[in-house]
Amino acid sequence: MIKRLSVKNHETIAKDTFALVLKGAPPHKPGQFINITVPGEHFLRRPFSIADQEDDEILVIYKVFGSGTQALSEVKIGETLDCLTCLGNGFGMTKHKHVYLIGGGVGIPPLYYLAKALKKHAIDVTMVLGFNTEADCFLIEAFETLGTVIVATLDGSRGIQGTVLEGLKDHTVNYYYAVGPNPMLKALTSIYKDGEVSLEERMGCGFGACMGCSIKTKHEPKRVCKEGPVFKVEELVWKT
Ligand SMILES: Cc1cc2nc3c(=O)[nH]c(=O)nc-3n(C[C@H](O)[C@H](O)[C@H](O)COP(=O)(O)OP(=O)(O)OC[C@H]3O[C@@H](n4cnc5c(N)ncnc54)[C@H](O)[C@@H]3O)c2cc1C
Ligand code: FES
Repeated sequence: MIKRLSVKNHETIAKDTFALVLKGAPPHKPGQFINITVPGEHFLRRPFSIADQEDDEILVIYKVFGSGTQALSEVKIGETLDCLTCLGNGFGMTKHKHVYLIGGGVGIPPLYYLAKALKKHAIDVTMVLGFNTEADCFLIEAFETLGTVIVATLDGSRGIQGTVLEGLKDHTVNYYYAVGPNPMLKALTSIYKDGEVSLEERMGCGFGACMGCSIKTKHEPKRVCKEGPVFKVEELVWKT
């Protein structure tokens, strides 16, 4: 669904990291994403997860990586953005009474919206959040209102030193949801077999038409933007 969403708030929340509140959005499920036309000469839209939604307002948290996200960071309150909304499948609900939410870097935002939804279903959550350094950390206090939070930073400047895998040591993970860079997801899924992960593949159209985001799975090729971005761990085939 194409929508013009107005920028209600836009601020820096960590190193090169912005929180963008957009108004006028239809309802999204946790794990879905939007595809934003960023200003300037950018032919392809840029995909971003929904970090939260209250009524018609969605929160997007993003990091500046290249020219598209740089252009987005310069958008002002009151401007409007052309967005494809309600994209992707979203996370599934689980019968487990306690689950782990495991995120790395800008994979973390969609886990906040998911944590809120799980709490509404009386499912307890433990969050394991991995960042590079303390300067990159965001949303930690907000997550702490929802459950136990374990923070890991690569340089040890906040929380445990290391990756989310160090944060999970001594924990028994029955079921988990994970979002983050592929090496993190590959390592996690080689150890923990029961869960769901959201993949970040490079995208063209974002709605299933171009096949640009196809990946191999145990069954047949699937489009990350349409059949994903959330996949069951048991479906995944990692590139070697
Ligand atoms: C489903 C999904 C959800 C995402 N959610 C978030 C989020 O919540 N917060 C956030 O900061 N980032 C998120 N990303 C990554 C974000 O889309 C990229 O960082 C962004 O597109 C980079 O654009 P750029 O022009 O700044 O970078 P460039 O490197 O200049 O982009 C070049 C091209 O590669 C694509 N691209 C680059 N990096 C990625 C990437 N990691 N994944 C997919 N496409 C990429 C761009 O769309 C563009 O076509 C998500 C990606 C996907 C697929
Ligand atoms: S990005 Fe076009 S099919 Fe997924």
